[in-house]
Amino acid sequence: MNFSTIFAGVTIIPVATLDDPQQAVRVAQTLATAGIRAIEVTLRTPRALDCIRAIVDALPDVIVGAGTVLTPQQMDAARNAGSKFLVSPGASQRLIDAARSGQHAWLPGIATPSEAMLLSEAGFDHLKFFPAEPAGGTSFLKAVAPVLPDVKFCPTGGIDQSNVASYLALPNVFAVGGSWIIPRNV
Ligand code: 3PG
Repeated sequence: MNFSTIFAGVTIIPVATLDDPQQAVRVAQTLATAGIRAIEVTLRTPRALDCIRAIVDALPDVIVGAGTVLTPQQMDAARNAGSKFLVSPGASQRLIDAARSGQHAWLPGIATPSEAMLLSEAGFDHLKFFPAEPAGGTSFLKAVAPVLPDVKFCPTGGIDQSNVASYLALPNVFAVGGSWIIPRNV
């Protein structure tokens, strides 16, 4: 399934770093109640995969993905846990090959035009722009829009309520990601 289909109507992808499956379900439920139907759970805690599985089981309408995917093994494990999409901070040839052979809905990260061109050539036209603010923010995205017309970006990294609207206003942005949206103390 491609990103346009998975993220139809979704413009915010909350990034959650969680280590408790019950808390994960509560966070995803709170977001869903607020109308935010997607969540990216980073693979940065020991129980991240259990958190993904718990959300998938409890909230089948929520679009759950795995973030900080660094290896092909993590791709497989995240898919087996029920992840509908996979996100990486960058890209490697191993990940490119694994995403292709596993037909994963994979959002690789880029921070330069050359990285975007290489991934576009490899068949990936939806890319994470990371880390968005340190790497040039909306100025970068405006500058690459005319030269990379077929690429859509999900900027992530340093985005919050003060700048999210300026990213979402750009035609080459299909969604934004970030941890600022995760409710505290739930
Ligand atoms: C991450 O993987 O942690 C994301 O890039 C989130 O970045 P943020 O905390 O700056 O929103």
